[in-house]
Amino acid sequence: MTELSLVKVYKKVRQVSEDICKPIKAEDYVVQPVVDVSPPKWHLGHTTWFFETFILKPYAHCYREFDPAYNYVFNSYYETIGARVIRTDRGNLSRPTVEEVYRYRSYVDNAMEGFLKDDPGPEVKELLVLGLNHEQQHQELLYTDIKYILGHNPLFPAYSLQTVEKPVQQVTAGVATVPAGVYEIGYGGTEFCFDNELGRHKVYLHEFNISNNLVTNEEYLQFMEDGGYKNFRYWHAEGWDWVKSKGVSGPLYWHHIDGKWMHYTISGLQEVQPSEPVCHISFFEAAAFAAWKGMRLPTEAEWEVAADHLNWGDRWEWTNSAYLPYPGYRRAAGAVGEYNGKFMVNQMVLRGASVATSAGHSRKSYRNFFHPQHQWQFTGIRLAE
Ligand code: AVJ
Ligand code: FE
Repeated sequence: MTELSLVKVYKKVRQVSEDICKPIKAEDYVVQPVVDVSPPKWHLGHTTWFFETFILKPYAHCYREFDPAYNYVFNSYYETIGARVIRTDRGNLSRPTVEEVYRYRSYVDNAMEGFLKDDPGPEVKELLVLGLNHEQQHQELLYTDIKYILGHNPLFPAYSLQTVEKPVQQVTAGVATVPAGVYEIGYGGTEFCFDNELGRHKVYLHEFNISNNLVTNEEYLQFMEDGGYKNFRYWHAEGWDWVKSKGVSGPLYWHHIDGKWMHYTISGLQEVQPSEPVCHISFFEAAAFAAWKGMRLPTEAEWEVAADHLNWGDRWEWTNSAYLPYPGYRRAAGAVGEYNGKFMVNQMVLRGASVATSAGHSRKSYRNFFHPQHQWQFTGIRLAE
């Protein structure tokens, strides 16, 4: 994000979100089939609200708010900013309409473009880059949420026939061996990173092996056929409760149809390809698979130290690390301090990136995080021992 002017980068990133929504219909924009999945309309409004709330209102002096009531509708979780529609009710919002949300976007974009013509200074630049990275996070969520919405419709409509989920061919098999020693992890560069990647610090690692490749559908099917979902031995207690109470028997989007394993993809129902990396796996499933193999998931420190040897970028990879602050971590002052820090309990770290991650968004120090039962992101498995 350095060589282009701020306005150009801003417009480019903002456009991607709208491009992602081009193939969907008005009805698809509104629904919230489960609490974790937000309506596409809400993502488009919320990312806009972010720029309005954290840049335009405090820094652009003659800016007039598009609609003060939107603060209630598009505030996600910022207690500092005030009351908001509860998460489970995002799908009940028939208003603002899709059209109004697009008008909100162009109103804020106009104001932002005007505001950015003059150098806004380092403080605003930092918020701007945060806002753009935030929008990119929501671009991936747009893909995963649109996939969930369409993939849970009995008609299995395709989002687009273009291969957003590009086929993944893994080339070099084998393992990397990393010797025991003291290593450094955390962001060490000079570009943007999220606050949860700081500060860089030392860790001691025992010698370990880590697979260069991700676990494939074929390998995962062996686990399923070997009774992986029927044997409590492989599972954490909470994972086993999850399997039984939800009746889970395979990855999200998998369907056994006429003797064949099919899965819903963003281009519609397709046959499961044996050589592709398995996708839409929860942490519980990743850990159970590893236990079945007699192996384990890497820790986030192991992953980061080995990253240069790995084929990564197609699946978010569950690690065996709880999402916790690094030594010396400090939340930023003000509302943006709520961005990451307050979620550092009961979630697991994922490393890498996925086929749905915006280009250039991730890096090897990036810490994604989700609850251990979540399958709807493009998640996969890498093994260590
Ligand atoms: C880092 C993907 C877990 O989904 O809430 C979006 C990204 N943070 N808006 C999430 C995020 C604020 C975050 N994840
Ligand atoms: Fe957000």
